[in-house]
Amino acid sequence: MPFYSDDVIEEVRSRNDIVDVISQYVRLQKKGASYFGLCPFHNEKTGSFSVSPGKQMYYCFGCGAGGNVFTFLMNYENYSFSEAMEALAARAGVDLPKQDVTGEARREADRRNLLFEINREAARYFYALLRSDKGKRALEYFKGRGLSAETMQKFGLGYSDKFSDDLYRYLRSKGYEDDLLKDSGLIAIDERRGGHDKFWNRAMFPIMDANSKVIAFGGRVMGDGEPKYLNSPETAIFNKSRTLYGLHLARRTRRPQFILCEGYMDVISLHQAGFDNAVASLGTALTEGHANMIKRYGKDVCLSYDSDGAGVKAALRAIPILKEAGITCRVVNMEPYKDPDEFIKALGSEAYQKRLDQAENSFLFTIRILEQDYDMNDPESKTAFFHEVAGRILAFPEELERNNYIEAVTARYQIGFEQLRQMVNRKGVQGGLVSGAKKPLRSGVQKKRTKEDGLMQSQRLMLTWLVEHPGLYRSLKGHISPEDFTEGIYAKVAGELFAQLEEGGELNPAKISSGFSDEEEQRQVAEIFNANVQGMEDTPADLAKAVRETLIRIRQESMEQKRKRLDPADTEGLAQWIKDRQSLQELEKLHISLDQG
Ligand code: GTP
Ligand code: MN
Repeated sequence: MPFYSDDVIEEVRSRNDIVDVISQYVRLQKKGASYFGLCPFHNEKTGSFSVSPGKQMYYCFGCGAGGNVFTFLMNYENYSFSEAMEALAARAGVDLPKQDVTGEARREADRRNLLFEINREAARYFYALLRSDKGKRALEYFKGRGLSAETMQKFGLGYSDKFSDDLYRYLRSKGYEDDLLKDSGLIAIDERRGGHDKFWNRAMFPIMDANSKVIAFGGRVMGDGEPKYLNSPETAIFNKSRTLYGLHLARRTRRPQFILCEGYMDVISLHQAGFDNAVASLGTALTEGHANMIKRYGKDVCLSYDSDGAGVKAALRAIPILKEAGITCRVVNMEPYKDPDEFIKALGSEAYQKRLDQAENSFLFTIRILEQDYDMNDPESKTAFFHEVAGRILAFPEELERNNYIEAVTARYQIGFEQLRQMVNRKGVQGGLVSGAKKPLRSGVQKKRTKEDGLMQSQRLMLTWLVEHPGLYRSLKGHISPEDFTEGIYAKVAGELFAQLEEGGELNPAKISSGFSDEEEQRQVAEIFNANVQGMEDTPADLAKAVRETLIRIRQESMEQKRKRLDPADTEGLAQWIKDRQSLQELEKLHISLDQG
């Protein structure tokens, strides 16, 4: 993060009207108090992307992208925050002061910036070597793998020299000290031998973050040899479980899904073949962090892992992680080829597109693999297989979904719909999960999630209403406080909003979002201020009723949480709690007015 003062940030923000700025990129049409257009962050036909001149924020109801004018440029143009600041300051004719220096945080940020610089220098160095006399063999290697010059350029491919310390010497000549170089992941410093390079005589793949900054490298032996790939270790700027290779390109895709594969070469071949939506989690198993990133871009997933045993195993592990993050996932069959790279080389991109179109539902994939453990010609084994399948179908929370899966399984295997359905239901009753067949099932985890979602929605609604009808504050004051907003960053957002409401004057929600340095948090602020309120506020009376009910729900839940935190020995606290709890009843009669002043 840069170190502009809040005042400067706010000046630049307020002098760039968000509707004007976004209009340069997206065609917007006015509807009511907001402007709408086609979302530039996901593929859509309906126009769910809204820009609010009042809030000075944007939010997409389709994919959840959102933020203020800075966030927009950072996401659309791949700018860092400083770059967005500079662009908007120039646009509005604001002179930026030299950045203020603030001790420790500044040094930390400087160090990270230097690590970015070193990785960029190294990438340039490897890139130039590949295109020099020394890089001939590596260039032949890449060409032999079918890569065009354009593709090599697009992925910044390079070559690391045969000498084991020439990158080290090059970086030293640029003025970087040993102490910093040893943290870059590129150089090892040995007391006796001095510095030497981690990568030598390898075909080099720079790894970029979502903003196209080089953060690490993979290096492949040209031909056979061990290890086949060498990767940068984790550093202050490289976190493997939050990095997807190819994401800086794939994030711009117009396709509704990401193709998730295993290797560098898979991603590169897919992009070269026109699949601009390919990414890979490199050499590490897919993590929750990866899944959340994918979710953030609003994409589904086509899993295109290797078709060998290891790839199938990795797919079986990835599927529940994606599902848990709420991502729909299908599995691409690449038989008889090993990976997407080999498939495309053999059959071409049209054939791959066909395989994508035919990609298998992840549940059906899972049970198809499961089936291999059973002997379907043996009645006992076959029965055991269906019991296992029934158990897995039971995990779907909705009856409709369960029935759809029962139908899909019966279409594939020799078992009747009613037969399998009874099996599923009996399992449910045995497990104490279903009473009768009608009640929807919910595993503990899902129940908790639904409740949390409901609570978050209530808290979001309340904050959105306060922004859209600041007059409400007069009625609500004293009956709700920022601490009642219990979810994640909500308390902080509420605190700042309440402070603005207390001050009176013009509300400034976009400023609240500027206060968060993390892009994901800025997106959440936009989400909080854009809760969907359709139908609940047709008339002022409807709105007042909805506000009152939401207020009670939020207070009840925050009282509940407070009780859980209470020390049972704290009788005074308990007495206060009971008193507060009783006062909740009075809220039922609270008069809610929208009038300001
Ligand atoms: P080639 O097509 O043979 O170049 O490799 P690939 O991209 O098909 O890779 P593979 O399926 O063998 O492995 C998938 C990914 O795992 C690679 O892209 C690397 O990121 C990682 N990987 C593979 N081999 C090694 C290794 O020996 N060491 C480490 N650290 N990572 C590896
Ligand atoms: Mn391969």
